[in-house]
Amino acid sequence: MKYQDLPPSASILMESTRAIGYTIESALADVIDNSITAKAKNIEIICNGFGEPYICVIDDGTGMDRETLTEAMRYGSTNPLKDRKKEDMGRYGLGMKTASLSQCRCLTVISKCNEELNACRWDLDYINKVDNWSLIFLEEKEILTLPEIKELELLKNGTLLIWTKLDKIDTGEKNIEKIMIEKSSVVREHLALVFHRYLSGDGVRKTKMSINKKEIEFYDPFYKSKSTKLMDDERLTLPGKKGEIIIQAYILPHISKMSKKDQKICGGKDGFRKMQGVYIYRNQRLLVWGTWFNMASKDDFTRLARVQVDIPNTFDEQWSLDIKKSAAQPPEAVKVILKQILDKVLEGSKRVYKVREKKEMEDGIHVWSRMVSEEGVRYIINNEYPMLTYINGKMDKHTKKTLKLFTEMIQDNLPLYSLFGDIKNDKKILTNEDAIRKTRTCELARDLLKQAKEFGTLEKAYQKFKTMDDFKDYPNELKKIYEEIKSE
Ligand SMILES: Nc1ncnc2c1ncn2[C@@H]1O[C@H](COP(=O)(O)OP(=O)(O)O)[C@@H](O)[C@H]1O
Ligand SMILES: [Mg+2]
Repeated sequence: MKYQDLPPSASILMESTRAIGYTIESALADVIDNSITAKAKNIEIICNGFGEPYICVIDDGTGMDRETLTEAMRYGSTNPLKDRKKEDMGRYGLGMKTASLSQCRCLTVISKCNEELNACRWDLDYINKVDNWSLIFLEEKEILTLPEIKELELLKNGTLLIWTKLDKIDTGEKNIEKIMIEKSSVVREHLALVFHRYLSGDGVRKTKMSINKKEIEFYDPFYKSKSTKLMDDERLTLPGKKGEIIIQAYILPHISKMSKKDQKICGGKDGFRKMQGVYIYRNQRLLVWGTWFNMASKDDFTRLARVQVDIPNTFDEQWSLDIKKSAAQPPEAVKVILKQILDKVLEGSKRVYKVREKKEMEDGIHVWSRMVSEEGVRYIINNEYPMLTYINGKMDKHTKKTLKLFTEMIQDNLPLYSLFGDIKNDKKILTNEDAIRKTRTCELARDLLKQAKEFGTLEKAYQKFKTMDDFKDYPNELKKIYEEIKSE
């Protein structure tokens, strides 16, 4: 047998790996993983569209000395088969390079460690010219002219990544500043979700992140302080692997119980329906979210269900972690258990809606009635509703007929589809504020009960009111009014 070394063409391989499929937000998330692994407490992103556009990431982590930095720039700096430290977020030894160069053609990394600044650069245009793995080292003079370098100099240790020649963003359109602003808001939303446990310090070291000096506020898709935990934590191990998988299931409170701010925190921009599902965290960093892995469908009734799955970095192979860290699939053994948990969770979420439905249609006297027939369902105004019969009693024949036509018109023009659309899209349906409803209902109850007393039917009317829409919501007030009128 004969052997021949056949190294890849540097320029071809570097150009090809640009197409791994990173988006600007997933690329930045991968770079931030490195900062977190380096124990950074503050991570700043700067997006600058003026002059020569650039994007920087600065962290106050441990930094790298010259040797470590040089090795870190290598494509494949660590063997993916090697066990990593428990808190290491890396895997393939590629992220810093492939993520960065998927968005730009020139990556400069400057690191401060032991009072020394070192800087290296991969410049794809230069690589294309020389076609070898030729890493550029920058002189001190050059380093000091780099953007945001002053920020790094102020830190004891840290790392600054600079992306220039932003060909994916700066596509020659005039309004690059505007594009940068739009991109940075997409990045903000993404990082707010992906790193929410780091941003809020939920079980991990709290890490501050900002974009253009504005702090990133976290989204919490679980909203644990207000959600219901459905079961004890399920802990699983895999044969021959260190670490364990922890599964927790939650049901969010009903949307009507959430303020706008609450909804924003746990629904994110995508809305509840889209955000339901399993959330997989690797080392507390969100990898995959809002999917039932084909084990259930995204039903409107299950939109409040969320399942948190925590995996350690020892299970990457079993979960088929991809290079961009945006895909992972549960191994079969885990899927079986996940399915059992999902059935329980989905049932729980459906129950929240069923309880509300029951409340609307339970026994009692309602303004609206739901009539089910073989042809379908009809919503009709209850002609027997006491207030309606009362008004009818006061009217002449002609006006009675007009009122009947009017109630039928309301029935036939009920904006069902628009209501359905609003509910489906998690719009909060507003009714009169509680205080107004209460005053109005009490005033009406007083008038009607007084009339009833005149007809000698006070007791009967009171019993009826107790079961009627609106009145039944204020039983104490109703009782007080009844007793007052009785004793008058
Ligand atoms: N911000 C940083 N601070 C300190 N070290 C870093 C930083 N970014 C990257 N590194 C070093 O560079 C190495 C290579 O990073 P990367 O290409 O993302 O691969 P991986 O994260 O899989 O190891 C890391 O293992 C780490 O040693
Ligand atoms: Mg990495």
